[in-house]
Order: sequence, then structure tokens, then C-alpha cells
Amino acid sequence: MDTRCISSGPSVMPPWTLMEFMGWGDLGIYGEPSRETPNLDRMAAEGMLFPNFYSANPLCSPSRAALLTGRLPIRNGFYTTNRHARNAYTPQEIVGGIPDQEHVLPELLKEAGYVSKIVGKWHLGHRPRFHPLKHGFDEWFGSPNCHFGPYDNRARPNIPVYRDWEMVGRYYEEFPINLKTGEANLTQVYLQEALDFIKRQQAAQRPFFLYWAIDATHAPVYASRPFLGTSQRGRYGDAVREIDNSVGKILSLLQDLRISENTFVFFTSDNGAALISAPNQGGSNGPFLCGKQTTFEGGMREPAIAWWPGRIPAGRVSHQLGSIMDLFTTSLSLAGLAPPSDRVIDGLDLLPVMLGGQLTDRPIFYYRGDTLMAVTLGQYKAHFWTWTNSWEEFRQGIDFCPGQNVSGVTTHTQEEHTKLPLIFHLGRDPGERFPLSFASTEYLDVLQRVTPVVQQHQKTLIPGQPQLNVCDRAVMNWAPPGCEKLGKCLTPPESTPKKCSWPH
Ligand SMILES: *[C@@H]1O[C@H](CO)[C@@H](O)[C@H](O)[C@H]1NC(C)=O
Ligand SMILES: *[C@@H]1O[C@H](CO)[C@@H](O)[C@H](O)[C@H]1NC(C)=O
Repeated sequence: MDTRCISSGPSVMPPWTLMEFMGWGDLGIYGEPSRETPNLDRMAAEGMLFPNFYSANPLCSPSRAALLTGRLPIRNGFYTTNRHARNAYTPQEIVGGIPDQEHVLPELLKEAGYVSKIVGKWHLGHRPRFHPLKHGFDEWFGSPNCHFGPYDNRARPNIPVYRDWEMVGRYYEEFPINLKTGEANLTQVYLQEALDFIKRQQAAQRPFFLYWAIDATHAPVYASRPFLGTSQRGRYGDAVREIDNSVGKILSLLQDLRISENTFVFFTSDNGAALISAPNQGGSNGPFLCGKQTTFEGGMREPAIAWWPGRIPAGRVSHQLGSIMDLFTTSLSLAGLAPPSDRVIDGLDLLPVMLGGQLTDRPIFYYRGDTLMAVTLGQYKAHFWTWTNSWEEFRQGIDFCPGQNVSGVTTHTQEEHTKLPLIFHLGRDPGERFPLSFASTEYLDVLQRVTPVVQQHQKTLIPGQPQLNVCDRAVMNWAPPGCEKLGKCLTPPESTPKKCSWPH
């Protein structure tokens, strides 16, 4: 192990905190009226805020796969070709997962002596070959899938919680979540895991990478007893308060251990707030249109804060268009490593942005499954396809844009605009309400700039083998490794692989 890294400035490691369903508008610093995130607001005051930062997908698993590979889901395989423009993720009947050929961040960081831990939700596949410890992580405490349930362990098993290679229990069993009261102490458990890991690595003088992927704000939303009922915003706000408090404890520990000036910390989210769960279990996307599942700004623009006292100047705002995939390239750069050169990497190294105030022109691509829905270049966003969800689903009450209806934009049929995209100026119109007139010179100018960028992207794109096409009840978490020690092995049904149905 190279112990110099800990004390040699640039070779530092990022704990990240990443949360599911956290919206751009959920933080006080982004204008949330209740002002209940003092620790995250302080982190921003001491660091750099990115108002134009994006997830790689409007959904959890593809976004996380992109974060850890630095590559768009269409390249790393986290998409479906079952139907046009469909969101897909990793429920427990999914057969696919992170392909072995993909270089996952902790795998690469090992070359520089880093020890890596994931706390919380992995979401890159739950079958044995996709286990995070097979993809570079040294430690894991958390679950492979969302904490949905409880299930009856007959039609569906409850989701297991792992410590490293083996399960140590299941949600709603050893790891209770009270759906009625919303009480669960999982964020506290995840916090202890994070603090313990940091202390151990600091004591051993080892450089470390902590991926703190908590999920209390994902429905069913939960918080521990001291936080329940304390928010102005209901249960979702309780969960946000507990996460904010935990981030404060992580930052304080780094300061107490005197490693804050050697540790890069980044806070962001993997998709926009799920407005379908609003207002009780869903957050806020501030001024942006719609939420999770959509390629409007509310689905993919994320809160983002970088913190590195003494290095990143305090209290700055960067208008760099940033992507969650940049954390891959930036982390390698911090460790003195170059990104893999044998494949396309979509992430940028943000160090020149954070340390030198540079701005780099780059496009942000918005995919839904196999389909390029939109692109943002500078201040302009061009939509090639618009769709929220089908009329059929919408009539059943599934609404990704509650209270919002922008005629011709939030459409319930898939509308193609590839010849004449709908273009918005996101600075003047962050809510995507007023498309530029097709006849304006501004429109024609923008179209001229966007077209070659998109053509180049599509001409050179080599899609990965789609991982999210096949589902099979036999692959669910019936008998995860370690189940025999706990007497918790269940018998899988016969294998019946079929195309997953992705309704939206
Ligand atoms: C969480 O609750 C479980 C039992 O429900 C308990 O065993 C555990 O000690 C608690 N952990 C924390 C960190 O409070
Ligand atoms: C949105 O408004 C338009 C008219 O402005 C209407 O035709 C359409 O049905 C509305 N859509 C929804 C989902 O309410």
C-alpha cells in the first residue's frame, strides 16, 4: 500500500454521498423553503456548488452504472431494447448486470493502492458474478436492490442485506422498516459503517474510496426515531434531515482526524426526485419540469456539491455542465491515474474546473433506454423525442409530472422531433415551458451547433450488449451466499426467462 497518498495532497480520495430520488430543490442552498439542510448548505458554503450538474439517466441503476464506469448506459449495457425509449433498472428478477469487460472505478483505483467500500445500494446486478467485491470493492455493507417489500418469501423473497461476500439478513426481517410509521434505523447503520471505515483507513494510513449510497429518500421513505416527525416537509423531509445530519458527521470526522485537506468529498444524486411519490414520499426538483423517469430537467438535473477545504476555493458556484460520470474520471485523476484508453469514456476530469475555475464545452446527452431523447449544449437544450408515459398508465394515476402540463412538451404519446427539435434556453426558461420559435435566427443558430454534435455522437456510438432485457423469477434473491448459515435459504422456482416488460 502506498501510504504517502494520504498526506501528499493530490492523491486523495473521495467519499461520495449519493442518494436516490433526491431532487435539485431539496436543499436549502438550492432554495428549499424550510431550510432544513444546514450541513449540506455549509458544505456548499465551504466548497463549490454546481447548479448545472446531471445524472446519466432518469433512473437509478443505469445512472449508477454510468457513475462507476464513466460511460453512458448505452455504452456499458445498462439499457433495454425490448421497446423503444423504455426506462429499465435492476429489480430482483433481472438476469443481467455489470459486464465483466467494464472497468469499475474501485478496480482501477486498486492500481494506486486504494481501499474501497460501498455502503448502501449497489444496484448493478445481484447474481453472484455481479457482486461488488468481484468488481473492485474491498468491502460492502448494504443491499443489491431497492428496499421494496415486505414480501412473503414465496412469490418473492425479501431483499437481502450483505456484509462483504455474504448476506447477514433481509429487509423487513433482521433489518426492519416500519411502513406505517416510516421508522427504520438504516441511515444510522450506514453512517456507522462509513465512520468506522474512514477511521480504520486513517489509522492504517491507507488511501481510501468510500461510496456512500444511502437510500432513505427512496419510497418507502424511512427515518430513524429521533428524526421522525421533525421536518416541516413530512416524512420525506425527515429522511432528508437525517441524511443531512449524517453528511455533517462524516465531514466533522474528516476534520477531527485532520484529513479533510487530503480528502475530496462530492455530494450528488442518481436521478431527480420522484414526483410520482409526492408530496408525502417524494422530493422537490425546484423550478424544473417533471421528475424521475423523464428526460426533462426535473428527471436528470441534480444537486451537486464538491468539498475539499484548502484546495477547492470556498463559496464558489461553477456553471460547468457536469455529469455524474465526471466523478469517475475526476477520481482517477485525483489518484494520479489516467482513464482507460481502449474505450470511450464520457466523464470529464473536473479538477481544472474545481481548482482553476475553468469551463469546458461539452454536451449532456439524455437517454431513455436505447433512445437519445435530448441534448444540452451550453444554455440550450434540444429535445428529439418527448414522452412522459402512456395514456394508459397516466389514466391509472401514474403521473411523472403532477400539476405540470406543458402543451406539446409533456406528451403522453412518444412524439418525434428529430428533424425539428424542440429547443429551450435553460437560463431564461429553466422550466422548459417556452420552446424557441422555429423561425427565429436563434433557433437556426442553435440547430446548426447541435446537429453536428449529435451526428458525431450517433455515428461513433457502439452500443454495449443490453443487460436489462431478460427477467426470470428463478434468479431472485432466494438463496444468496451466506443464507445457509442463517437458515434463510429459499427454494427458487423453475427458470422461465422472458422479456422484461418495461412500461415507461
Ligand atoms: C438498529 O436496529 C436494530 C434492531 O432493529 C439494532 O439491532 C441495531 O443495533 C440498531 N442500530 C443502530 C445503529 O441504531
Ligand atoms: C394538457 O393540456 C392540453 C391543453 O393545453 C390538453 O389537451 C391535454 O389533454 C392536457 N394533458 C393532460 C395530461 O392533462
